Amino acid sequence: MKIGIIGAGNIGGNLTRRLTALGHDVSVANSRGPETLTALAEETGATPVPVREAARDAEVVVITIPVKAIPNLPAGVLDGAAESVAVIDTGNYYPQQRDGRIAAIEDEGLTESAWTAREIGHTVVKAFNGTYAQDILDRPRPAGAPDRQAVPVAGDDEAAKAKVRALIDELGFDTVDTGTLADSWRQQPGTPVYGLRDGIDGVAKALTEASPERPSDFRG
Ligand SMILES: NC(=O)c1ccc[n+]([C@@H]2O[C@H](COP(=O)([O-])OP(=O)(O)OC[C@H]3O[C@@H](n4cnc5c(N)ncnc54)[C@H](OP(=O)(O)O)[C@@H]3O)[C@@H](O)[C@H]2O)c1
Repeated sequence: MKIGIIGAGNIGGNLTRRLTALGHDVSVANSRGPETLTALAEETGATPVPVREAARDAEVVVITIPVKAIPNLPAGVLDGAAESVAVIDTGNYYPQQRDGRIAAIEDEGLTESAWTAREIGHTVVKAFNGTYAQDILDRPRPAGAPDRQAVPVAGDDEAAKAKVRALIDELGFDTVDTGTLADSWRQQPGTPVYGLRDGIDGVAKALTEASPERPSDFRG
């Protein structure tokens, strides 16, 4: 599958490593340009590209950059993607530590991923936002393994969500459906499932235990 990854940091780098190892055709972009991604390209066989080209012909695009940088993505960042493209959003809003206050999230009560979808003009599937980057490399397990971790996944487009869940299964993790983007507060920072290393039952239980009120540490 052709996959574009926007962001080549902790999460983007490790997804590039695993998805290329699985045989996918990965294009990867960061903010500084493809010439700064030579080492990752040599290590993985991924193609470094400018951000504008990352989505070209892609069936899946992963956006994995700090939330505050979402408005800096070029207009039409998804132009040229496959019509049925699924866009994965790994983002977390950290107003106090990194992102600053984003009024639409705080005042309109949008979930972080609903805000991101609105900013980029395309719906997203929220996944991997609560997964430690290193676990993407260290903790894949075959289907049915007793210690296989589960990843909560939220999204409005059922076909896109199904495509993302199948890809996560390929990456070595189970998934649990959180619901729509409006429901995705259940997996945001500070919730019981955030950073939880557990299987399907534990993740499903943690999702039910979340509170819709944004924790004070994650308010700006
Ligand atoms: N780290 C984790 O374990 C973890 C786990 C789950 C979710 N997350 C979330 O996932 C997102 C990414 O986290 P991370 O830890 O991978 O971040 P990171 O290590 O700080 O890497 C960020 C990447 O985004 C790129 N970037 C920034 N602005 C950009 C722009 N306008 N256009 C294109 N690329 C841009 C950066 O490129 P340059 O270096 O060239 O600036 C860099 O490659 C965050 O929202 C984070 O909260 C992180």
